[in-house]
Amino acid sequence: MCGIIARIGGDDDGAVDELLTGLENLEYRGYDSAGLAIKNGGGPEVFKREGKISRLKDVLADETPDGGLGIGHTRWSTHGPPTDANAHPHTDCTGDVAVVHNGIVENYDELKAELRADGHEFESDTDTEVIPHLVEEELAEGADPETAFRRTIERLSGSYAVAMITDREHVVYATRRGSPLVLGVDGGDYFLASDVPAFLDFTDDVVYLDDGDVVVVEPDDYRITTPDGEAVDRTVRTVEWDPEDAGKGGYDHYMLKEIHEQPAALRQTLRGRADPATGDIRLEDFPAGSFADVDRVQFVACGTSYHAGLVGAQFLSDGGVPARTFLASEYATAQPPVDERTLVVGVTQSGETADTLSALRRANASGAATLAVTNVVGSTAARECDDALFIRAGPEIGVAATKTFSSQVVSLALLGERVARDVTGGRSEDARERLEALSELPGHVQQILDYTSARRVAEKYRDAEAYFFIGRGAVRPVALEGALKFKEISYEHAEGFAAGELKHGPLALVTPETPVFAVFTGRNDEKTLGNVKEAQARGAPVVAVASREQEAVAQYADEVLTIPDTHPDVAGVLANVQLQLLSYHAADLLDRAIDKPRNLAKSVTVE
Ligand code: AGP
Ligand code: GLU
Repeated sequence: MCGIIARIGGDDDGAVDELLTGLENLEYRGYDSAGLAIKNGGGPEVFKREGKISRLKDVLADETPDGGLGIGHTRWSTHGPPTDANAHPHTDCTGDVAVVHNGIVENYDELKAELRADGHEFESDTDTEVIPHLVEEELAEGADPETAFRRTIERLSGSYAVAMITDREHVVYATRRGSPLVLGVDGGDYFLASDVPAFLDFTDDVVYLDDGDVVVVEPDDYRITTPDGEAVDRTVRTVEWDPEDAGKGGYDHYMLKEIHEQPAALRQTLRGRADPATGDIRLEDFPAGSFADVDRVQFVACGTSYHAGLVGAQFLSDGGVPARTFLASEYATAQPPVDERTLVVGVTQSGETADTLSALRRANASGAATLAVTNVVGSTAARECDDALFIRAGPEIGVAATKTFSSQVVSLALLGERVARDVTGGRSEDARERLEALSELPGHVQQILDYTSARRVAEKYRDAEAYFFIGRGAVRPVALEGALKFKEISYEHAEGFAAGELKHGPLALVTPETPVFAVFTGRNDEKTLGNVKEAQARGAPVVAVASREQEAVAQYADEVLTIPDTHPDVAGVLANVQLQLLSYHAADLLDRAIDKPRNLAKSVTVE
């Protein structure tokens, strides 16, 4: 995820200021580097810097170029660390073609090899840089810029929104497939952007582009066509957003927006990595055999990431690899034995959590191999560990982790399968079914978002004294996570337990004023049902999180938060989405500061 902006106006206008405003308004989408390219009479002039947009502004303060047309980008790295060279725009060998890109070019390796063989030289580690070089090839063969752009796009697989300028014309070419792009109409001037807030300071007239649309924009005119060049008509709409709230895309809170981003985030996490038809897994830097020397795996993490780590350890144990998950703060205090055949995996959204970094450093100093599973490419964890696997969920602003938990669990399922295959030499029995269920997750999450009754349930139990969450096996971590989310943003007392542990103590707390949320997966349900009955016998209302297939469950529950039927190992991600929504609505009904709960920070950089 990143922010793209383009500004298309006459020659004399000051595009730079408007592009910078656009980039600042998009900074919430990604913020590890920024850049822009301006057409100033001749070819594109490129300015880019690693770091915050303020660094780019400092550069431009000394030498602001004139020009009415340009493209800009704020980056959220997927390929290559945040550096000046990896920042966008990227150019071809001649410097006459400049491109900004949001998304992932999946086949960039083969395209790069082909271009290199033809003599092209690359200056960055990004997937994006193949795009301007492919355009250069086409131009050299006599194509006009529009044809060159279309032919290039045809060769890309993956997800992208792309905008391009060349030295030849005063025109921006752009397209989207799987990444957002909108057109802003400001009289005869235009904007293209990943999201409306980018240009809301200048216009609120918007054309929403569809996947596959190719748009050609010049001052006073724009054309939208299909990939085959057929003209399409798209309506200009006026948006009524307060610029202040615009980053939330019309949602009341970032948390709710991020909950709703999960289908897209999960698609991005999975993209190109799993093939349910063949059962194959492709994890970029980890080809088959990468983990053949591993004897055991230890996960270290905090909070929500710890809960994802608990799920990760279960995936590995089920696959025959000894694995355990540790709270990072405890690991750093009392480290378990490790050797060079121990793989220590730090699960951390931000990659900056001090407790997790400290645990990873200890593991590293004791000779273990370290791997960061993180959302932030240039983060300390990604840089300090031997290797990194990126969860690709896009920036998360709300302090409560939501979409990153789902993307962590999916990433750990894929990693777990890779490691287990390398270590045991075989595939887990139901590998295909599990991959199938993972690939269905984005659609299943969308169904929940479309029909959830979480707000009604939150309202029904809003006066409760405390809230308990129980789950067994694969969904014990989901019960813990449900309770963490609930207490974190509603400030109400909530606890999560292993379902079977309820009767060993916590049952003393259960009364008619304490609803019990029980998570079912379709595996070992009878036992969890027994625990539900124990709570019910003490008068507690019961809310089941279960699929419609689990009919016996519905008989006993006062309410059911329904999830689509799926593989038991994957059901927890879906159940967790219902619990995220429950917590969100409970907190909203109490008018809490949902995106910035009291006493908490998004990234905890002290031990
Ligand atoms: C989750 O909602 C919390 N905000 C918190 O538990 C968080 O998951 C924890 O601080 C770990 O952060 P990290 O993933 O960035 O390391
Ligand atoms: N894949 C590109 C990169 O790593 C674009 C990432 C983005 O969407 O910001 O540079």
